[in-house]
Amino acid sequence: MAAMDRIRNIVILTGAGISAESGIDTFRGGGGLWEQHRVEDVATPEAFARDPELVLRFYDMRREAIQTKQPNPAHFALARLDAEWPGELLIVTQNVDDLHERAGAKRVLHMHGEHLNAWCTWCDVRSSWRGPLLNRPPCPACGARALRPDVVWFGEMPYRMDEIYAALRGCDMFVSIGTSGAVYPAAGFVGDARELGARTLELNLERSEGSAGFDESRLGPAGELVPAWVAEMLL
Ligand code: APR
Repeated sequence: MAAMDRIRNIVILTGAGISAESGIDTFRGGGGLWEQHRVEDVATPEAFARDPELVLRFYDMRREAIQTKQPNPAHFALARLDAEWPGELLIVTQNVDDLHERAGAKRVLHMHGEHLNAWCTWCDVRSSWRGPLLNRPPCPACGARALRPDVVWFGEMPYRMDEIYAALRGCDMFVSIGTSGAVYPAAGFVGDARELGARTLELNLERSEGSAGFDESRLGPAGELVPAWVAEMLL
């Protein structure tokens, strides 16, 4: 039976692993260290208060890096699914890069924010941003020198959770791609979806921390697994 006859609404959660083959470092790969700091010690409001230059340098480097990278076959395959899938579909990404959009996907929600936005903590306006923040440039909206990366740090609330839970409640299939399942609330989505009767599938290089919670796990590089799964779905 074709997938479309059984499944109508899909939620796809993506993590750093889907961008790994584009050359963007994952968080917990390679020791998860940056200049001897644990990423968890850089990506927090406390770290920003204590040592803003360190935190801004880290994000400036990553913002610059993503602009030199290209989407890979996994991003393109999801964009194709988004374009051709007749039911509801939502790509919930923990990634702050723009590779889903550059591959052409439209139904994308950035729950952890976006590298290419700066957020003014003075006037609360978000502006698109490609350059550095280390030099404390003024906010384009109010002029205050109070811009920070528009990225959700540990201890902060991810964005648009109501929309995500509404999509999870209505989905028949939940697919997790390239995420270690180490960070909540995203790591809990599989349990929520499964409890509500959705079929759950993991596509990851290795078994993630939440692997046992999925109906099925396919192990391998996203650049191979995702196009193959999308082809199955669109059969
Ligand atoms: N294909 C598929 N999966 C891959 C690939 C690949 N080519 N390369 C790595 N992976 C897998 C790893 O095995 C790992 O399970 O991707 C996962 C990446 O995990 P993390 O580095 O922990 O990234 P992620 O799950 O996105 O992190 C979640 O943590 O630091 C915070 O806010 C940050 O959004 C991030 C969140």
